[in-house]
Amino acid sequence: MTSNQSSEEQEALKKTASEAALQFIRDGDVVGLGTGSTVRYLLLALGERVKSGFRVQGVPTSKATAELARSLGIPLLPEEENWPIEVAIDGADQIDVNFSLIKGGGGALLREKIVAAAARRFIVIVDSGKCLSCLGHPMPVPVEVNRFGWRSTAQRIRELGWEGKIRKRNGEVFLTDGNHYILDVEIERIEDPAKVETQLNLIPGVVENGLFVGRTHTLIVGTANGVEIRRAP
Ligand code: 5RP
Repeated sequence: MTSNQSSEEQEALKKTASEAALQFIRDGDVVGLGTGSTVRYLLLALGERVKSGFRVQGVPTSKATAELARSLGIPLLPEEENWPIEVAIDGADQIDVNFSLIKGGGGALLREKIVAAAARRFIVIVDSGKCLSCLGHPMPVPVEVNRFGWRSTAQRIRELGWEGKIRKRNGEVFLTDGNHYILDVEIERIEDPAKVETQLNLIPGVVENGLFVGRTHTLIVGTANGVEIRRAP
């Protein structure tokens, strides 16, 4: 959120971006459903469409999204399929000028990346406060790690020059849907996101990280002047 944007304004921008994304979903599509407060608005709007006869099948990227989608009557495909996803729609924590993302603020980055990779088109919905020239501080890169030897994995990350902090929620270590831990890794300026994404994923014990490079097809931004829809550069 930019300093001159209130949280009410930010919510309104998330909602407009989400509702604009509906135009990219066609009757009969298999749709990847992201995770987070922005995607929540998309699910609410999609649920309304489904009630009036629109046919979609969803692939949820988290238990939370699955639960909300089910409560709204959105049919879901089983977890273990090779899904024919036409379009996946998801939020992001930061997006840079080349449409590289930091994701995983909600801890769903692994399933989100699997679903984005399986989709023919990956659409990102954000409020304008998340668009930056360069990824990095103050948003850490979430790195999902196997619990086995996680302190050793943290040390390998430290050897690359970055400090990872174990994520906690309500005083307890946060567990992902895949039963892994998350290290939130502080990186000041991520000039080369593709390099950092690869460097992190090459460390044994790292399951996945929250840098999404070269995946975004379309960006939908809620701005104070309306919705902007941009194709990837
Ligand atoms: C969850 C994510 C979310 O898409 C990201 O954190 C954005 O969330 P929100 O829409 O609540 O700001 O990557 O893992």
